[in-house]
Amino acid sequence: MNVGIIGSGTMGSGIAQVAASSGCKVKLYDTNQAALDKAQAALEKILARLIEKGRIDVNEKNRIQANISYVDTLKDLSDSNLTIEAIVENLDIKKKVFSELESYVSKDCIIASNTSSLSIASIAASLKKPERCVGIHFFNPAPLMRLVEVIPAIQTSYETLEKAIDTISSWKKTVAVAKDTPGFIVNRVARPFYGEALRIYEEGLADFATIDYSIKTLGGFRMGPFELMDFIGNDVNYTVTETVFTAFYFDPRYKPSFTQKRFAEAGYLGRKSGIGYYEYDDNGKKVEASDINSNIVDTTLSETIFNRVLVMLINEAADALFLNVATAEDIDNAMTKGVNYPKGLLAWADEKGIDWCVTQLDNLYHEYHEDRYRCSPLLRKMNRENKTFF
Ligand code: NAI
Repeated sequence: MNVGIIGSGTMGSGIAQVAASSGCKVKLYDTNQAALDKAQAALEKILARLIEKGRIDVNEKNRIQANISYVDTLKDLSDSNLTIEAIVENLDIKKKVFSELESYVSKDCIIASNTSSLSIASIAASLKKPERCVGIHFFNPAPLMRLVEVIPAIQTSYETLEKAIDTISSWKKTVAVAKDTPGFIVNRVARPFYGEALRIYEEGLADFATIDYSIKTLGGFRMGPFELMDFIGNDVNYTVTETVFTAFYFDPRYKPSFTQKRFAEAGYLGRKSGIGYYEYDDNGKKVEASDINSNIVDTTLSETIFNRVLVMLINEAADALFLNVATAEDIDNAMTKGVNYPKGLLAWADEKGIDWCVTQLDNLYHEYHEDRYRCSPLLRKMNRENKTFF
């Protein structure tokens, strides 16, 4: 299969590696020669490391590299069976590239976008044959994260969707099919992980380190919310939240936090700037003094923090199911394989008990009378009918 990838930045180069490793002939295109050179050098380094670790041999390295060619004109992608676009997140620029691309490729070529925040319908509308357009959303780093969200737009044909799912599955990825709604699955359902943690901090209930400690120890998450925001970058994470909030017509459930906004404004971006909620040394390692002394964390406080974040995540997952964003299986797979959650949120809801979830949410709602704490109608109905998700 011939795969054309547009944009050789963080995502495009990772997707190229994935496709080439599965035996596809990949053409990686970028307008910026420096970006192409950088992608080629980065791949060389990654493959050399995989050899060191014994994961691949020299023949495999040569095979992967031979499968990728680096091109600087869009027309070079004309023999593609599938193209995946991963350029700057700007609708007008994407539309221009898509309509030019369509004039070069065959009528059967699938034209996909890796966009995180734009609607697939709006991108597909730039094509003469919009039924060939689909969202194929990888997670960073693409070669390591197992999840790929596949998003059909209202224009997408069944055939395009099937082909996209089959191809991505053959690249050894787990596919979750998501409705063309803001944030798809992961970037919607994960919002409270950050938002509720920030809110708990803003209320003065606990500091960053205590919140992270509670969520890691009680929930088994690999990173706490503040560590993760520092890792992603406060600028990037804030923008995603703001985009989702705006796209949902200002639903208070997704309201961004002033704390994070100020951190972003101050340039306290996290690991990449040396300071965020924690301090980092030149190698990006957290400076120990900014971490917590776990002996002094109060257990009741820890439980309050963890339960609050968990139930808000469960509520978001349940509401995504209620609104048919994806199936229960795909919602749980998305969170465990796209962002490494220790358990699927709906399975977690079953484990805690639907009654427990509803009670926790109603307690929060009664305390604050804020819409962000409204319980999903699905959880309430399931509780009445004594049902579980699985
Ligand atoms: P990036 O900034 O690392 O790379 C973008 C590349 O596109 C650059 O090399 C740039 O030279 C090139 N480019 C810009 N305009 C172009 C054009 N008109 N034609 C050809 N090449 C062009 O960006 P990144 O992070 O790889 O993101 C790309 C896309 O993937 C965006 O739509 C983003 O929303 C999405 N995405 C990003 C994720 C991330 O964690 N960075 C995760 C999932 C999706």
